[in-house]
Order: sequence, then C-alpha cells, then structure tokens
Amino acid sequence: MKIGIPKEIKNNESRVGMTPAGVLELSKLGHKVFIQSTAGEGSGWDDEDYHAAGATILPTIDRVYDKSDMIVKVKEPIEQEYDLIKEDQIIFTYFHFASNKQLTEAMMKSKSVCIAYETVEGEDGSLPLLTPMSEVAGRMAVQQGAKYLEKPVKGRGILLGGVPGVPPGKVLVLGAGTVGIQAAKMAAGLGAQVTVLDIDMKKLRYVNDVMPPHVVTEFSNEYNIRKHIKTSDLIIGGVLITGAKAPRLITRDMLKEMQPGTVIVDVAVDQGGCFETTRPTTHEDPAYIIDDVVHYCVANMPGAVPYTSTVALTNVTLPYVLKLANMGWEDACADDKTLAKGLNMVGGKILFSPILEAFGWKEAMI
Ligand SMILES: NC(=O)c1ccc[n+]([C@@H]2O[C@H](COP(=O)([O-])OP(=O)(O)OC[C@H]3O[C@@H](n4cnc5c(N)ncnc54)[C@H](O)[C@@H]3O)[C@@H](O)[C@H]2O)c1
Repeated sequence: MKIGIPKEIKNNESRVGMTPAGVLELSKLGHKVFIQSTAGEGSGWDDEDYHAAGATILPTIDRVYDKSDMIVKVKEPIEQEYDLIKEDQIIFTYFHFASNKQLTEAMMKSKSVCIAYETVEGEDGSLPLLTPMSEVAGRMAVQQGAKYLEKPVKGRGILLGGVPGVPPGKVLVLGAGTVGIQAAKMAAGLGAQVTVLDIDMKKLRYVNDVMPPHVVTEFSNEYNIRKHIKTSDLIIGGVLITGAKAPRLITRDMLKEMQPGTVIVDVAVDQGGCFETTRPTTHEDPAYIIDDVVHYCVANMPGAVPYTSTVALTNVTLPYVLKLANMGWEDACADDKTLAKGLNMVGGKILFSPILEAFGWKEAMI
C-alpha cells in the first residue's frame, strides 16, 4: 500500500503521524511511505532520518495526498486539506467529528474512509489510542503545576517536594483514571503529599495498592472536596464521565476558600472542564488568575512535548497502520473489532451513530 504522512498544519501542532521506526516496519513489508519534507522536524526527526528508514520525501502536501492510498496523521484535517482528500482514500487520525460539523460535511463530501483514533475501542471499553495522550497530560499536569507554584508567575511560592526542615506541598488529584494516576505518581515522585479522589472504589483500591503511603485516597464528594481545597497547593482535574461534559466539581465560590496562589490545572478542559471557572487556554498563554487562584487549562497539553507525544502515540497506532496496510481497511476491520470501532465514515455514509446524534441527523448519505 502507498502510505502518506503529511506535515501537520494546524496551529502549534508539532507532532507527526509516523516516526522513522514506523517507516522502517512498513518498508520491510514492501509498503511505500511518502512523507512531506520537514514533517518530522517538530518532533526531532529530519528528512534524512525518514529517507534512511525507507521513505520517499515529497516537497508538498498536495503530492503526499495525491500519491497515497492511506494518510496517517495526528490532528483532524483542516480546511486547506479538505480538497486534497480523495474518494476511497483511508484517513487514519484523530477526527472528533461530533464537535465539528464543517469537518464532518467535508469528509462526507470527500467519500473517503475515515478511521478515528479516538473511537478505536477495546471490548472492555478501553480507548487504546487515547490513553497515551492522557498519560502524557497527567504527568505534565504536575510539571506545569509545579512551575506555576513559583512566585514570579503568581503561585504560592512553594517547592512541591519541600526540603529538609520544610514540609512538602499538598497535591489534590480529582479522578483516579489515566490522567489522575499518572499525575499522582509524578507528584508522589517529587515528594509531595498527595490525595486522590474518585467515585469509583475499584480505582481508589488500585491507587491504594500501588502507590506509596504518602498518596492517600478518599471518596469524591462535595464535603471532601471542600475540606481538601483549603490546604492544597496544587489541584489537578482529571475526571471524565464517558460521553458527557465533565462534572463541575469546583465551583466559583470555592476559589475564595483556597489559599492565594493555589494552582489549579484542569486537564479535563477538553470536555468542558471540572472547575466552573475553567476556560480553554493555549500554550502561548496557558494560565490566568481568578480570585488569586492560578488556572492552567491548556486543551492540548501533549502538543508541548511533541517528541514524547509522537512516540507514545505512534507506538499504539503503528500496529493498526500495519494491519490496514497489509489487509486493506475492509478485511482489517472485519478481523479486528477494536479497529472496526474506529470506522466513522465510509463513502459519505456515517457509521458512528454519536455523530448523527450530535447533529440531530437521521440519515447521513450525500
Ligand atoms: N488537556 C489535555 O491536553 C488532555 C489530554 C488528555 C486527556 N485529557 C482529558 O482528561 C480527562 C481525563 O481523562 P482520563 O483518560 O484520565 O479518563 P479516565 O476515564 O481514565 O478517568 C476519569 C476518572 O474520573 C472519575 N470520575 C468521574 N466522576 C468523578 C467525580 N465526580 N469525582 C472524582 N472522579 C470522578 C472516573 O471514575 C474515572 O476514574 C478527559 O476529559 C480527557 O479528555 C485532556
């Protein structure tokens, strides 16, 4: 199969859909990989790295789309790419169709085969192509939170780990899912006192089993949240109710109960956020202050660490890319139920019903 890797052109996106390691695996199997010149630069690989692994470097994005049977990307195609996509071409990337009607209509018109990373789903309900980004964001939440606790950026002026003779900082983690566990692990590693809240006892039991004794668990309810926010230096929001907006666990009035300079990192910002005062920010201007509380609410946190994020993402996408390349999308999806869940659209027809529900559509043929 001919596989194309275009350079991401969405603002501030430095990740790339494939590493040289992926190119090598595909080339060994006799597939042909076309990559746009400088596509891997933001993640740390130059054209020579891709060429050495067996890729053909093409100068423009148009050539990559034109020559390929399958496009492997990171972000959803943006307007400049819509007309480059061909009928029957496989597009394997994050789409998030339900929140983007213009993209949905453009892909229907293209009659391409859209396989969305975010809906590739295991039989146990796991989302294998989303998990690595939550792992990155959970770990980064502590790194960013620690930075914003510094005085020059209006934080409390606290070193999370403390020093001999000075107690460590306190970190409150809302949610013991992928984000929450990774955040708790990083905060604990720095020596902070960590409290993790969740409504799922299985998750709390797991955290209790695997974390060191300075990570404690409590059930998530308003009483416990109000108790902990008074003394927490850093609060990390990592809650998710699948398919719904994040619950507002910290309301505006609660900010007054926090110590001035407390930092709140709302990782759940992409689902509306779990703090009432959350509004999405970008890496250019990541933080703002309300009632002396520093808010960090970047919606694409992994974008700031493209090397780690690209490798983490492509580690999990490559097995599916290989399967699609070896078998074609129809046989690959017939063979693999997890991959088949990612099939959102074929030939202008929507196959993933939440998209129809999101737009109030009954039938979706063009
Ligand atoms: N900002 C970013 O860059 C970025 C990156 C990756 C993921 N995310 C987002 O982070 C959020 C968390 O993702 P995840 O992969 O950890 O999800 P997850 O499903 O693994 O974990 C969510 C956890 O929230 C818990 N929860 C639900 N309601 C709760 C409540 N009232 N109180 C406490 N806990 C509650 C659930 O029981 C679950 O354990 C999602 O919204 C995801 O989209 C954001």
